[in-house]
Amino acid sequence: MMEKENARYSGGLKNGNCVCGARAVNRDSLEGLLREMERCAKAREVPILAEAARPVFLRTVREAAPLRILELGTAIGYSALLALRESPDARIVTIERDADMAEAARSFLGRAGVLGRATVLVGEAEKLLPTLAGNFDLVFIDAAKSRYPDFWLGVQPLLTKRAVVVADNVLFRGLVEGEGSEEWPKHSYRTMVLQLREYLRLVRSATGFRTEVFPEGDGMAVSWRDE
Ligand SMILES: C[S@@+](CC[C@H](N)C(=O)[O-])C[C@H]1O[C@@H](n2cnc3c(N)ncnc32)[C@H](O)[C@@H]1O
Repeated sequence: MMEKENARYSGGLKNGNCVCGARAVNRDSLEGLLREMERCAKAREVPILAEAARPVFLRTVREAAPLRILELGTAIGYSALLALRESPDARIVTIERDADMAEAARSFLGRAGVLGRATVLVGEAEKLLPTLAGNFDLVFIDAAKSRYPDFWLGVQPLLTKRAVVVADNVLFRGLVEGEGSEEWPKHSYRTMVLQLREYLRLVRSATGFRTEVFPEGDGMAVSWRDE
């Protein structure tokens, strides 16, 4: 079901080029830490928020001004740190199924001085979602793409009235919709692409939400609750 999404960075992070957590960073050096995280992600082939998609993400976080953020798919904590930097009063719960990755995230968030505002949970998001208590103003879906419809349904009871749900990679290499998506997706991507189409169908038809899909990066869907 998860296909090849996570195969590349299964080698663990602690033994690689980016051993995290040894050095504390001055809070003014947050930008330096972010650059270090970008280098770490590149070296270990960890997919973090694409540079082109960052302005859409940051603008949405600013507009939402969230107090509680939920993220599905932490990786090394890059987008979590961006979200916390952008919303100084917010707290984040972020879910990651890879324990090494979660440890790296805790370490980076600790060095950034924001670990007190972050809870990094280790496990499958679909299993942990029903255990969470609600009231999230912003949800960032960035885990297994073949699970996006489940994630959308799973987060519904957790949303505040003015929440926004952001989902990354919804246009997956142009295969989900628009020009170039007419061909039946090749086998290795089929489930993913069909589930992303289903995600877009769900969010666009959801009562009380307005959705905009931005093409930047690999496509980002922003669904504002607007009841
Ligand atoms: C694209 S990366 C997240 C990037 C991160 N949001 C960022 O921009 O810095 C996706 C992450 O989701 C995790 N993941 C995939 N499926 C998951 C699931 N079902 N539950 C929890 N984590 C999952 C992967 O291990 C991977 O670290």
